[in-house]
Amino acid sequence: MAQKQGLKPKKILIFASGNGSNFEAIVKHFNSKVFCTQNKQKTGCKRLVEIELVTDNKNAPVIERAKKLDIPYYYVKFEDLYDFLKPKKDEYNLFVLAGYMRILPEKILKLGAWPGTHGQKQNKFINIHPSLLPKFKGKNAIRQAFEANEEKTGVTIHFVEKNVDSGKIIAQKSLPTGKKTLPVLEDAIHKIEHKLYPEIIENLLFKTSVLLFGGGAREHALAQKLSNSPFLDTLYLVNPNDGFKNLGETLELIPNGDSAKDYKDLAKKARALNISMLIVGPENPLFEGITDIFQNEGISVIGANKKWAALEGSKSFAKTFMQKNGIKTASYKILEEKDLTLAHNIKDTLQYFTSKYQALPVIKADGAALGKGVELPETFKKAKFSVNEFLKGKFGKASKKILLEERLFGKEISLVSFWDGKTLVSFPPASDYKRLLDNNKGKNTGGMGAIAPAKISAKEKKQLKEYENALKSALIKEKADFTGIIYSGLILTKNGIYVLEYNMRFGDPETQVLLELLETDLLYIFNKIAEKKLDEIDIKFSQKKASSLVLASKGYPDNPKKGVLIKNLDAAKKYGCKIYFAGVKNSENELVTNGGRVLNIVKSGNYKKKILEDIYKTASDIAFDGKIFRKDIGK
Ligand code: GRF
Repeated sequence: MAQKQGLKPKKILIFASGNGSNFEAIVKHFNSKVFCTQNKQKTGCKRLVEIELVTDNKNAPVIERAKKLDIPYYYVKFEDLYDFLKPKKDEYNLFVLAGYMRILPEKILKLGAWPGTHGQKQNKFINIHPSLLPKFKGKNAIRQAFEANEEKTGVTIHFVEKNVDSGKIIAQKSLPTGKKTLPVLEDAIHKIEHKLYPEIIENLLFKTSVLLFGGGAREHALAQKLSNSPFLDTLYLVNPNDGFKNLGETLELIPNGDSAKDYKDLAKKARALNISMLIVGPENPLFEGITDIFQNEGISVIGANKKWAALEGSKSFAKTFMQKNGIKTASYKILEEKDLTLAHNIKDTLQYFTSKYQALPVIKADGAALGKGVELPETFKKAKFSVNEFLKGKFGKASKKILLEERLFGKEISLVSFWDGKTLVSFPPASDYKRLLDNNKGKNTGGMGAIAPAKISAKEKKQLKEYENALKSALIKEKADFTGIIYSGLILTKNGIYVLEYNMRFGDPETQVLLELLETDLLYIFNKIAEKKLDEIDIKFSQKKASSLVLASKGYPDNPKKGVLIKNLDAAKKYGCKIYFAGVKNSENELVTNGGRVLNIVKSGNYKKKILEDIYKTASDIAFDGKIFRKDIGK
């Protein structure tokens, strides 16, 4: 469990009919957790979680366990359960089924109406089942998987619905069946249960309040995903746009010219609100050290610390990291402001690239320039001109040092990975569409659309795995002690995979499609990252395909038109699409454009053609003056 503040004791009722090994594991887990008032001494402390047992079986061994563990228990015949529970239902925060051999009728399930405020369709009843649901429902699930010669099986914790073993899945953990005999397999499954169930119960009882920083479509998608999590207490949003501020409580941050002070004040406010986790969307706060500041206040952060944000914030730092660790990247040379006075240096360097690689180099600002600090000059003259412009400060300090890079050719893909300091887990690769116009023509933008998973060959898949392993080893070797996201911008060349750049955050618009594929609860993953225990969980991705299309405002990326009324947003519902808002704001209760990228239309499903059809139908129905979008996403 991520560090949580302001804990209040909770109470649960465990339902069991038989052996009760899960019951015992839960009791023992919480025995070591006590809640103390004020003086923190053991006196004045009580159990953080009070536990009671109810059983429908007078002879169940679980009763002996309850006696031994000093847990109050009730023997209640199943036909009397409703009357027993009804007057007591509000005493309990959670009803935990652990080998309760009865199917609960709706009447009883209704007693567990969910007290949450986030519209989750769940109730207070949870169950543990010894298979990877939806496979092998009902009795003898371990045996069923064993006899079916499954390669892997596992454990599922889920909310209880009236159909057996079918409620929303909360967490799963898998196990390779290998050559285990049935008893060995059963034993291994129970071991997983005894660890997973208490942990999930703890996370459900002591939910996390989260602060999400950022106001674009990426943050809208993250906020949407987080607000569906059963582990969420309250979602707070720093400066969300008006298109998604309804998903949480807004914390306004008005920059004062001193970002460190702004972040310190924000962290103090967060602490006072019992927020225990910060998730950072955009890059600038990372460069400015928001992570270090929040961590000093005892708040976990999903986002790199200042030191490691430099993998994105300084291209030369990233190059050194890659070269030291044998990660393939374009060869490069550095030019600095002082080279302006040594004109032949610039000319010689450009000539070096044209003679060695038969192509002009790519020009990159060393520092961060809002994704705009990269140029691919077409002529020698233009290259010379751009180099001069950059060094003279076209992007301020960010371009007073530049990299000239060997130009690489191939398909680009984005690999977004979770990182906790020792474990790296990646999403399927995505493709984004960076240029403004169809067929990758026009200006570079923040991204005009994305698809996931990116289409890559079996050989490329293997290379990607090798790259991931190399990245992981490099991060371990360099002691990259941050908890967050690392995004690799990759290019698949004929000589293998090369890194074009690192971002230390979720990609935009990639996130909007990648979250569609994520089946494991996002906040559960973030909690595990914060605890540096990412290795303990399985992260599952669906086999679906997802796509997003950006609707932008006329004049994007240079001078987008603002204040234009956006009509017909309901079209999204009609075609089963989601909308994530970026540059919008409220004006007289209606949304108007307020930036270049206005919104994302997102859909996932089994058939790419159908997804794209629905996205494009939605795109043509949504109306605002000067609407622009690419017509070739996914083609
Ligand atoms: C467990 O395997 C659990 O998954 C299932 O029933 C079994 C209960 O075992 N729902 P125990 O009574 O906790 O030992």
